[in-house]
Amino acid sequence: MNGEVDDPFPVEDCLFEETFSNESVYNLSGHELRIKQVFGANLGVAAPVWEAAIHLSEYLAERSVELEGKRVIELGAGAGLLGVFAARLGAEVTLTDLPVALPPLSANVDANTPPGGWPSPPRVLPLSWGTDQPHFPSDWDLVLGADIIYLPKTFPLLIETLVHLCRSGTEMFFCSKMRKEHRTHDFYEDYLPARFNVELVQRDEQQNINIYKATLRT
Ligand SMILES: C[S@@+](CC[C@H](N)C(=O)[O-])C[C@H]1O[C@@H](n2cnc3c(N)ncnc32)[C@H](O)[C@@H]1O
Repeated sequence: MNGEVDDPFPVEDCLFEETFSNESVYNLSGHELRIKQVFGANLGVAAPVWEAAIHLSEYLAERSVELEGKRVIELGAGAGLLGVFAARLGAEVTLTDLPVALPPLSANVDANTPPGGWPSPPRVLPLSWGTDQPHFPSDWDLVLGADIIYLPKTFPLLIETLVHLCRSGTEMFFCSKMRKEHRTHDFYEDYLPARFNVELVQRDEQQNINIYKATLRT
């Protein structure tokens, strides 16, 4: 993908030639997070905070998924809400995305540094699926992804990446808007189960957003 973001969504940012940004405030489980969304800088779908990121952040907090001290990698982090939230909950987080998405992502990580500093400062690194995973360890505690299942041509690349990142015992949580036109179901019903145990753990019928938990098949 040459570091460019494929953009299958009719998101409004495509309408803007000039760059502009807005800052949104999210209150998640007692944490106030300020996330700047930068539009019109060739960021495409990496610019906004997607509903799936909010859903998965809330899920992790509500279900008390253990994050403190855990080594967490987020794929396709975009503006960074989910990874920043996991870091605020005490995880050692590595947020990844395509190179073009990293400057605003890093800025959002920095902007949400807690008053006393990060217990473990989050890292922001380029990870293009199917290409860069060999530069990353293979023993993460948790792998997170919000709204990253929307480009069928990347499904095999993503599986290759996930297989590399996971050991037996690694837990993965994905949250997706289940868009038929993006064949999101195919990923969870065909691609992912071929290598992982997959469980649908939450469905929001109204918003058509699912959360899946997966672990490596042994
Ligand atoms: C719909 S956005 C979701 C962003 C963020 N996770 C959220 O929910 O707000 C999809 C993200 O996947 C990233 N992405 C798309 N294709 C990718 C690839 N081949 N490798 C790495 N990241 C990719 C995009 O840059 C974008 O940040």
